[in-house]
Amino acid sequence: MRCAVIFVVICGFAFARKKCDPSITTASGTFAPTDKICPGDIIFQEEFDSLNLKKWQHENTLGGGGNWEFQWYTNNRTNSFVNDGVLYIKPTLTADHLGYDALYYATLDVNGGAPGDQCTNPRWYGCSRTGNAVHILNPVKSARLRTVDSFSFKYGRVEIRAKMPAGDWLWPAIWLLPRYNAYGGWPASGEVDIIEARGNRDYTLDGQQIGSQMIGSTLHFGPDWAHDSYVKAHWKKVNPTGYNSDFHVYELVWDANSMNFYVDSELVGGVTPSKGGFWELGGWGDTLSNPWQGEEVMAP
Ligand SMILES: *[C@@H]1O[C@H](CO)[C@@H](O)[C@H](O)[C@H]1NC(C)=O
Repeated sequence: MRCAVIFVVICGFAFARKKCDPSITTASGTFAPTDKICPGDIIFQEEFDSLNLKKWQHENTLGGGGNWEFQWYTNNRTNSFVNDGVLYIKPTLTADHLGYDALYYATLDVNGGAPGDQCTNPRWYGCSRTGNAVHILNPVKSARLRTVDSFSFKYGRVEIRAKMPAGDWLWPAIWLLPRYNAYGGWPASGEVDIIEARGNRDYTLDGQQIGSQMIGSTLHFGPDWAHDSYVKAHWKKVNPTGYNSDFHVYELVWDANSMNFYVDSELVGGVTPSKGGFWELGGWGDTLSNPWQGEEVMAP
């Protein structure tokens, strides 16, 4: 279940004002700056004093995230709310809402009739599902918020102060996904996972805790879904106290040459591609066709 629980997003895209050499950062969307962007300007910021639904669109889908995850993303203040400058994402059990038996026979249809409650992702049976004994209905309700219409950007610095959730099955994530799929469908236009974690309090692999004590940052990229070379761009960091025990600042620094990830200013990992860009990093040679041919070295 992918859900980001309890996070404050302070997306500070470090960059100054009017008379300046223009920043390499570009931005679009209803909350993007309309003036020229100077290096050092903060161009998007959120303190969660309120939940601004013009900025933050809720996903409304049963489709999970492409991994048959079993959450139902909903726009419901039980599952997402702000309190004291913190956005909480709180999973609840579908059975507590619809009854346990309903998971085995009911039909959930999230195609709303109003502009605010339309299904946001039809893939993977996302807009309507009927439960049965083999495939029960999504047993958990949660939330996924996005700035798809309000804000998108290229190049810059992102800082997010967040606290990870603890608990089995929880998979908190803060991502950037492409707004326009400039090079084609996933993962040809890239995916930047600023942070992902597992909520498990005690979960080991080869003697190492891989639950709430570990976070990861990942880039997904490749010519098609069967060729995603994320293993070449995946970094981990361990904190024995657990990332669930306190707020930390998760940071992405993305410029024309590199992308680096930090937690509390400590490097998690990053990539500075050579001339051949992400195609060379992926190692596909000339066996497949390169969607980033002739593009900037940081494409996608
Ligand atoms: C919001 O979620 C709660 C808890 O699952 C549920 O009882 C309530 O009916 C939901 N509201 C709507 C409008 O679906």
